[in-house]
Amino acid sequence: MKIGIIGTGYVGMVTAVGLAELGHNITGTDIALEKIDKANQGIAHIYEPGLEELLKKHLKAGNLTFSHDLDGTISSSDVLFVSVNTPQQEDGSADMSFVESVSRRIAENLNGYKLIVEKSTVPVKTSSWIKRIVCLYKKQDYDFDVASNPEFLREGSAVKDFLEPDRIIIGAETDKARDILTKIYKKFQDRILITNIDTAELIKHASNSFLAMKISYINLISDLCEKTDANVELVAEGMGLDSRIGKQFLKAGVGYGGSCFPKDVRALVKIGEDLGVDLNMLKEVDKVNTARVERFVEKIKKALWILKDKQIAVLGLAFKPETDDIRNAPSIRVIQALQSEGALLRLYDPKAAENMKEEVPESAKVVYSDSPYEAVKEANAALLITEWDEFRCLDLKKVKELMANPIIIDGRNIFEPEKVRELGFEYYSVGRE
Ligand code: UGA
Repeated sequence: MKIGIIGTGYVGMVTAVGLAELGHNITGTDIALEKIDKANQGIAHIYEPGLEELLKKHLKAGNLTFSHDLDGTISSSDVLFVSVNTPQQEDGSADMSFVESVSRRIAENLNGYKLIVEKSTVPVKTSSWIKRIVCLYKKQDYDFDVASNPEFLREGSAVKDFLEPDRIIIGAETDKARDILTKIYKKFQDRILITNIDTAELIKHASNSFLAMKISYINLISDLCEKTDANVELVAEGMGLDSRIGKQFLKAGVGYGGSCFPKDVRALVKIGEDLGVDLNMLKEVDKVNTARVERFVEKIKKALWILKDKQIAVLGLAFKPETDDIRNAPSIRVIQALQSEGALLRLYDPKAAENMKEEVPESAKVVYSDSPYEAVKEANAALLITEWDEFRCLDLKKVKELMANPIIIDGRNIFEPEKVRELGFEYYSVGRE
């Protein structure tokens, strides 16, 4: 069975490499030709632990290749995973134009049975549209099926998530489609849930929105903790001990970011609106999340009063650790707020600085530092926005000596308040004294 991956962005690239590791023959294709050329040289366009090693391994083994030729990839593949992007539009809905144009190209190149698998996160009912487009544009009368196989990869652990999944969701409506996908994921047969296509499509949006809801919920609880003597970490621990609630995704902080949660929550609200179902609860989830950055900036002001000409170290730019991705990162909005107040910024991130330079260019008031120690030098305050291990291991005595004022505002509760205060820092964190 030959598998084509259309769209080698984040999801597509990990899927290509992951499926190659499962022993399949993979061709990846993308309109971004430089990505394809680099991939063929063993260079991944994203940073993801373990990805390049597997990429090189399977290029060498000969069961993974990347091609500029979309039509050729379609005609030579039996199964096509569609993992093109579905960007958010102004009204919150996903822009499905790439999925539509790929569906047309598949139709035009149909030269035998094909299974078209939705891998991108798409609104429920997308498969009906793909089916219709392929029927409208196909030139030859071959059979095809559409299936949904949503991905649940987390950035920073995507390869591991692919190779050790909690579940494989297969939404399919014919025996043939079900059999093909079950065979592809044979290694995980104990974890496969087979559903109809609408259900599979909805599982993805429902899962991400639920996780986002957990985060906004604990963030609201952290506000209550700040008004009382309660400690949000212990509240979360106490809640999480109930196996019905679970411990994960109850870390309070400066809010969720990334390319998935913000977009998927809004998309699900819009899907609800279109179907006449009121998902207001998720609007609140989004609102609470947006307000986290404002609360964080309030804390900075509470510590420094006037921000104009204050030197502030920003430690952590990526939307979470182990990635260089800054899409919807809370750091961007914090930086913008500080810039509008006239602060002088020194930014540091172990991986994401280059990406951030495109969003926040270097200037007289914005300097990118090569180390956290350089960033905190002469600073009036240090902000922690991403919980990289590198920051947990900082030599805080050295940090204190370097700073003009030893003030830390920790948006991710990285440090133990007592220990940091013992060292002489003024320390603010989230939902705890
Ligand atoms: C998320 C989901 O976790 C994946 O299952 C899904 O496949 C993926 O979206 C997707 O749809 O492609 P990801 O966005 O990579 O993965 O990152 P997460 O680890 O889920 O973190 C998202 C955000 O939530 C980060 O900004 C993180 O800092 C924040 N977060 C997470 C919290 O603020 N508190 C927590 O307790 C957990």
